[in-house]
Amino acid sequence: MKIGSVILAAGLSKRMNSAIPKVIHPLLGKPLLSYAIESAKAVASIPPVVVVGFASEKVMDAIKADVSYAHQIEQLGTAHAVQMAEAQLSGKVELVVITSADMPLVSAGTLKKLIELQEKNDGPMTMVSITGNESRGFGRILRDDSGNAMAIVEEKVATAEQLKINEYNAGIYCFKADWLWNALKKVKKSPVGEYFLTDLLEIAVQAREKVMVLTLDDADEAIGINNRIHFAEVEKIMRRRINEKLMLSGVTMIDPERVYIEPSVSIDQDTILYPETYLRGNTHIGKNCEIGPGTIIDDSTVGNDCRILKSVLEGAVLEDHVEMGPFCRLRTGAHLASHVHMGNFGEVKKSYLGKGTKMGHFSYIGDAQIGEDVNIGAGTITCNYDGENKNKTVIGDETFIGSDTMLVAPITIGKKAITGAGSVVTRDVGDGEKVVGVPAHVIKSKNDEETKK
Ligand code: UD1
Ligand code: CA
Repeated sequence: MKIGSVILAAGLSKRMNSAIPKVIHPLLGKPLLSYAIESAKAVASIPPVVVVGFASEKVMDAIKADVSYAHQIEQLGTAHAVQMAEAQLSGKVELVVITSADMPLVSAGTLKKLIELQEKNDGPMTMVSITGNESRGFGRILRDDSGNAMAIVEEKVATAEQLKINEYNAGIYCFKADWLWNALKKVKKSPVGEYFLTDLLEIAVQAREKVMVLTLDDADEAIGINNRIHFAEVEKIMRRRINEKLMLSGVTMIDPERVYIEPSVSIDQDTILYPETYLRGNTHIGKNCEIGPGTIIDDSTVGNDCRILKSVLEGAVLEDHVEMGPFCRLRTGAHLASHVHMGNFGEVKKSYLGKGTKMGHFSYIGDAQIGEDVNIGAGTITCNYDGENKNKTVIGDETFIGSDTMLVAPITIGKKAITGAGSVVTRDVGDGEKVVGVPAHVIKSKNDEETKK
């Protein structure tokens, strides 16, 4: 059957107290709405229709997914919101799945089950319920003596007796499309001035149509986000799921509650994550690494057997057996080849450090191409910026850069060269040359003098 999907996202989100619409507040690095879109896309035959209203421009700007939008200018309730999608779906699909933007834990699997049930249903409607002790403002499901769902009563208008019911409406539905568009026209304004989508249950029952109910085993799936407390609560559940999956796949976490990993991150076996570690964006960590405590890694690739202590990485690449920290910062374009050692207080930007190169203490390396087994002494700075341009530093293999060397770029230092402590190098240095002083000049090394004798 052809499946259409409607995602309701037009609400005012008053309870957020925010200038930004609720549905694009980030949840584990992605806009809240994107979770509902992902699940809907997994089951829908055509792009989901997102009903937007409040701050719709901001919402459409933030969402990159392939969806279409329907506009609800006035927020007159959930039934009215679904009506706004009719023009885009009518005649194109046989079934319509309806979900809300503020329910990020609803899985594609649940939507599949819902559709399967509706496909077996002669009647026009299947809905999702949960049972539990926390009402969260959910509508209550009224059933008749033989257990058939009769009506949904919104919490706002329920009697004290009805409030005691502990079966709740999850707000997820699947309808026969033709029936839905007709039935929506029959919904009357509720006592609070809104058109409730939930009235469709009564409308179906009164027409003696069969309604099916899918009850979820995991009530967490139906948690809706109305305020920032709910955001934190859902994020915690999501993080726990991600971390548990990673731990079962072979990653060790010393204190999983204090490890923050976005769903886009992958980590190989026997890597150990210490507390206060944040792994975000397009990040991959190899096997046998030790990361943290206190480390933030964004959009970076880390090889195998690396050790990263209390450091910050963004847009970096580390090959195998790299050791770094504490207090290092790698910025975009930092590429550390295997066996590079970076001690404390080092910063590397847009630079390549060759295999086995060591940079122990207090250095800045920017816009540089550095060979293998280079020793970068304490306090070395690539002076890459002349006030207008960023200039390049090149250093050959096995060169020794003495402590506190200033390398005034653009500059090339050859292989097996030496710069003396405190030198300010303003001119290129050839292979095997030794320079000292301010500005640095070439001196003969002891070896050279001995060979001359
Ligand atoms: C709704 C259900 C309730 C259910 C609960 C589950 C109704 C009347 N009630 O209540 O039975 O238990 O979900 O989470 O449907 N929206 C619009 N336009 C509007 C109004 C709302 O797009 O005019 C959107 C909201 O942005 C939100 C969704 O519809 O994404 C649900 O609206 P909300 O006001 O949050 O309804 P609930 O009170 O949660
Ligand atoms: Ca809600």
